[in-house]
Amino acid sequence: MKERESGECGGGKSETPPVLWAGRLAEKPEAEAFAFQSSIAVDRRFALEDIRGSRAHAAMLGKQGIISAAAAAALDAELAAIAGELESGTLAIGGSAEDIHSFIEGILTARLGDTGRMVHAGRSRNDQVAVDFRLYLKRVVPELRGELAETMAVLLDQAEKHAASVMPGYTHLQRAQPVTLGHHLAAWCAGLDRDRGRFGDALTRLDWCPLGAGALAGSGLPLDRETVARELGFAGPALNSMDAVADRDFTLELAAACAVTMTHLSRFCEDVILWASEEFGFINLAESWSTGSSIMPQKKNPDFAELIRGKSGRTAGNMVSLLTMLKGLPYAYDKDLQEDKEALFDSLDTVRSCLRMFRGMMGSALFNTERMAAACTGGFLEATDAADYLVRRGLPFRKAHEAVALVVRDCVEAGQRTIGERTLEQLKARSELFEADVYQALVPAACAAARNLPGGPAPEEVRRQIEELRKRLTLP
Ligand code: ARG
Repeated sequence: MKERESGECGGGKSETPPVLWAGRLAEKPEAEAFAFQSSIAVDRRFALEDIRGSRAHAAMLGKQGIISAAAAAALDAELAAIAGELESGTLAIGGSAEDIHSFIEGILTARLGDTGRMVHAGRSRNDQVAVDFRLYLKRVVPELRGELAETMAVLLDQAEKHAASVMPGYTHLQRAQPVTLGHHLAAWCAGLDRDRGRFGDALTRLDWCPLGAGALAGSGLPLDRETVARELGFAGPALNSMDAVADRDFTLELAAACAVTMTHLSRFCEDVILWASEEFGFINLAESWSTGSSIMPQKKNPDFAELIRGKSGRTAGNMVSLLTMLKGLPYAYDKDLQEDKEALFDSLDTVRSCLRMFRGMMGSALFNTERMAAACTGGFLEATDAADYLVRRGLPFRKAHEAVALVVRDCVEAGQRTIGERTLEQLKARSELFEADVYQALVPAACAAARNLPGGPAPEEVRRQIEELRKRLTLP
């Protein structure tokens, strides 16, 4: 998933390489046309999975007596050698092949002659690409879930440090009620925890092996689909051969999981960008996680957060691309399906790099806790707690709401910024139930601490949420 190579295939040359289907078509496409339909620039990414699939298929062909044991052994040894050469870099993937499948088969044939020509018995590139893609995802999606877990771990450390740091909670971007920074960061993590679940769910549904489906209709050769599926680590063979080559639900599910994750990151980044502004002043991003301006000498910009927010768009776009590409396709395989990989790879790459950048930025950020606490004063964030105070003393909530609303109006008229600035006498003018202990109850930290229900912002409850989220990280 790290590699983001672009193939060297493309226009320029007038000669096109030999293709697997040259026997039927006397005339080759021109170079530009050939490059247009080629996919090696994209599918070279799962070269090693293609080889794994071929080794399992070849071994099965041997066991089933479809090819000789000697041919199966020769294929296996050569495929292993090719994998080794690709990994060590002694063999480069030629950009001029049509796709990774023909590239590998071409090398096998060049090296083994007719034995190389045996590997494709009972197989089509349609089931081959489907198995390669699934094997690749079975490798990289768990890595992505690991990136999610690591990102959560970084945020949870910050949340723990700030379990008791009081800050304003917002609705409509207006100060609403005092919460704690730990509560806010744990809220982000609850979303990332669901993202981890979404990727995991998609993995369980894609865990079926298409090999043996052939082009669409299976094979009359005595293939052993069960063994191949097990050998490759799948739960079993795909149920229906047409579905096996036509289905791309897994790309939709993963693209959706990517888009949701990026939507989360985008919203978190929006918070960070606001917090980094002079107006909020809640967060101080590390200098190494900020950028400057070419003209304004004073600038320290939250570019990383902005770029993550910006990149959420492409993951939403990739999901729409896939849905649109799929919606009109007749069963079973159509070449349109080749478009699936570029879209999903881009989404997976985007999520991966954004998670890494986001946690670097957040792990090194410092929070201005004094400024956050000060922002809880002025704006009457304690108003709900004042109403709750009256409810505890027996006033129906709607009456308590009205009494406190009138107190707030009194404050605004008197130019006061908190309910606590009113004298007890003034408060009693709005409700007889106010007593001297109300002042203590309306201090921002006390308001947050009083909200200690499960899920609430009280420090000890935030610590419990952090512990629960950390426990989930250890689950598969
Ligand atoms: N590159 C193709 C893809 O990604 C591989 C399958 C090609 N099959 C075919 N019949 N042309 O879907």
